[in-house]
Amino acid sequence: MCSGETERAAHIPVLFHAVLEGLQVRAGGRYIDATVGGGGHAAGILAASSPGGRLLGLDRDPSALRMAQTRLASYGDRAVLVHSPFSRLKAAARGQDGLLVDGVLFDLGLSSFQLAESARGFSFAADGPLDMRFDPTDDGPTAAELVDDLSLEDLTALLYRFGEEREARRIARAIVAARPIGSARELADVVTGAVSRRRRRIHPATRTFQALRIAVNEELDLLAEALPQAVELLAPEGRLAVISFHSLEDRLVKRFVRQESRDCICPPELPICTCDHRATLKIVTRRPTRPSPEEVGANPRARSARLRVAERVAE
Ligand SMILES: C[S@@+](CC[C@H](N)C(=O)[O-])C[C@H]1O[C@@H](n2cnc3c(N)ncnc32)[C@H](O)[C@@H]1O
Repeated sequence: MCSGETERAAHIPVLFHAVLEGLQVRAGGRYIDATVGGGGHAAGILAASSPGGRLLGLDRDPSALRMAQTRLASYGDRAVLVHSPFSRLKAAARGQDGLLVDGVLFDLGLSSFQLAESARGFSFAADGPLDMRFDPTDDGPTAAELVDDLSLEDLTALLYRFGEEREARRIARAIVAARPIGSARELADVVTGAVSRRRRRIHPATRTFQALRIAVNEELDLLAEALPQAVELLAPEGRLAVISFHSLEDRLVKRFVRQESRDCICPPELPICTCDHRATLKIVTRRPTRPSPEEVGANPRARSARLRVAERVAE
């Protein structure tokens, strides 16, 4: 997530210094930003890798790429931007020079400008249609289609699985009773009316919106496809840095990094190793790095950010 909703905060990438430090950005290094967004982290990487550092930036959202293009224009051909989901990371990198890189960054989730664009349907307050696709050119279903077409059972399962929403069934029932649901704001109102009155730290529709966004964009599947590709693209001692914003993403990243840091991944009950797995990563951050209270104060949406860093080992 790049930032908060205010204009001032809109230019502060989350955990900016921790990312540059975690990636150990160096002059002349080669980097991939798999979620280039508005180009905030990418600009930091390019500045810190001067002179001569290079960056390949990917994003699934064409309008994010246009913003990044403007932001990174002063770096000329040191920055190359490609419209692609990060699940095609290797193909995108091969399309350039195919050389191994010194760092790969994933800053997951959505950016504040995507949240602010009413027509995208990401925000509770949006009057626009419930779309939620990161890539509006994608043929996949929109959030409106899921909300209007799924059975009560499937909608309940979706809210439970991708939102970890304890009141999934109650919310799904209210949605089914209210559909068709025209806008993001209408959905937020239906959810708010359905949930119990106990105090929640977050907006009552947060988990419902998260669940729909994850489902629409197949976020967890694509991340699971992308992480091994990122490791393959790293040179020895190259760094992988991932910022996640909810526990489903963070769990996936944590498990991946743990598994890749082991020489054997056989079940513990097996007396001898049969897997032939070799560690490809060394864990750098045993516990994820969290934003400071000052950062959260300046940018409240950074509060759930968790950064994990790992280093490529020679096999
Ligand atoms: C939090 S923003 C990144 C902000 C960026 N680090 C910056 O400093 O401006 C996340 C970006 O990831 C993009 N994104 C989400 N899923 C993606 C995927 N599967 N492949 C590529 N980009 C993706 C979104 O479109 C969004 O622009």
